[in-house]
Amino acid sequence: MKTMFRQAQWNEPVIFKLGSKGRRGYALPDTEGETTGHDVGTPELPATIKRTQLPKLPELSEVEVVRHFTRLSQMNYGVDLGFYPLGSCTMKYNPKINDILAGTDGISELHPNQNENTTQGILEILYTLSKWLAEITGTYEVCLQPSAGAHGELLGALIMRACHEFNGDSDQRTELIVPDSAHGTNPASGTMAGFRIVVVPSNQNGTVDLNALKTAVSEKTAGLMLTNPNTLGIFEEDIAEIADIIHEAGGLLYYDGANLNAIIGKTRPGDMGYDIIHINIHKTFGTPHGGGGPGAGPIGVCKELAKFLPVPAIAYNSKLKSYFLDYNKPESVGKIRGFYGNVAILLRAYAYILSLGREGLEEMAEISVLNANYLVRKLSQIRGFELPYVKGRPRKHECVFSLKSMTKETGVRAADVAKRLLDYGLHSPTTYFPLIVDEAFMIEPTESMEKEELDRFVEALRMISGEAYSTPDLVKNAPYSAAVTRLDEVKASHPKTMALSWRMYQNRNVIKAATSKV
Ligand SMILES: Cc1ncc(COP(=O)(O)O)c(C=O)c1O
Repeated sequence: MKTMFRQAQWNEPVIFKLGSKGRRGYALPDTEGETTGHDVGTPELPATIKRTQLPKLPELSEVEVVRHFTRLSQMNYGVDLGFYPLGSCTMKYNPKINDILAGTDGISELHPNQNENTTQGILEILYTLSKWLAEITGTYEVCLQPSAGAHGELLGALIMRACHEFNGDSDQRTELIVPDSAHGTNPASGTMAGFRIVVVPSNQNGTVDLNALKTAVSEKTAGLMLTNPNTLGIFEEDIAEIADIIHEAGGLLYYDGANLNAIIGKTRPGDMGYDIIHINIHKTFGTPHGGGGPGAGPIGVCKELAKFLPVPAIAYNSKLKSYFLDYNKPESVGKIRGFYGNVAILLRAYAYILSLGREGLEEMAEISVLNANYLVRKLSQIRGFELPYVKGRPRKHECVFSLKSMTKETGVRAADVAKRLLDYGLHSPTTYFPLIVDEAFMIEPTESMEKEELDRFVEALRMISGEAYSTPDLVKNAPYSAAVTRLDEVKASHPKTMALSWRMYQNRNVIKAATSKV
């Protein structure tokens, strides 16, 4: 197998550096003309909303815009290009039919401020989706508002707090328990909701240590956040006992739904004893992830907690046979996002569930688990790839290898192997997560990969392992064929150097130039 991949490498400037003053990419109809018959007149904006200064936008022709973005897309990698085994992210194929549906005029041109009488169709779709998600997760009521899993976690933690406030013991219940295998967003969301985080260790099987959990719970416990299967891809088989421990201590059990893909149609978090759950729509239901959005992270709750869900709830009036927005929820934690949530993403999920049906969703889980276990078997045979925690036990939708022995013997780290994979035209898995695995290499193939693609991935890793033990520097300096090679990760994420927008970048440079003159 050769590294035949070569990505386009355009020296592409930011769009603000392209074009020139006065250049236009469009031509509006002549507002004065009588010839077109479409004269709309010159709109007069009220002085209060008129800008005093024109926005500093780039001025480009249409073709310049098209070429700019096409060149950028050639330097990108996505699920439509090849294997994308980013563990815990469920980077499955996003069916195009769902994009088409979300783009139809009747849907994409709706405005959220339209009168309910004119939006019955979309309200029906969202209402139906929320009922399906409640059925799938075994919860009583679902709110579609949150924009991502982490956003759902924050809402879930706020609901946990609201529940304890309602019961009069929120001053006492200040601690949220998370296992040491948890995703970083779990402690972050809990902290944002005002809780102190208590970490429980995993046992030698990679699951929650029950004795440690029993020691951690107390009258201070607000709840436990736990994904199942956990981030090692291992099912928490003691979940019923875990639920009892938390409930007996007066706490609530929160399900991080990032790994729902593995169990959908087989079991339901609500049946396992969870009280609050979130669903990463962009993972399980095949919608685009975007860079930190757009996504959707609906949350579902048990009956007792439904009163705390955000407003408005999308409800149905059976007498009037119409859907409406219900703001009458006095115990609600309030709004977590504008309007009904990320509708374009929710719509794609609606179409996805509708096209797969109950059996299709179950099969999806089965194939995702089969694919992950196929990789476990194949990759375990490669030098330097060790499967930590119980070996013979099947994984669910993902698996985590440790490259610790490879690092010890050759100096090649998990990050180097991940970078070298790019030269083989494959996206890298997640690395260094979960934190409890040294040199973690976390792979989630999903159900949408063919066996040939899985084999190509295995073969590429076999080659890279060979390179690591024979020519380690080759791997350490990879990639060679990607548009961008090794990034300065500290600089990229440091608050002093990170620039999230052109304006931020410019302001930073102005300040730098000014301070260097002083
Ligand atoms: C286990 C786990 N929990 C929570 C999240 C957060 O989800 P989101 O990225 O939708 O905010 C992730 C994201 O990858 C995850 O893997």
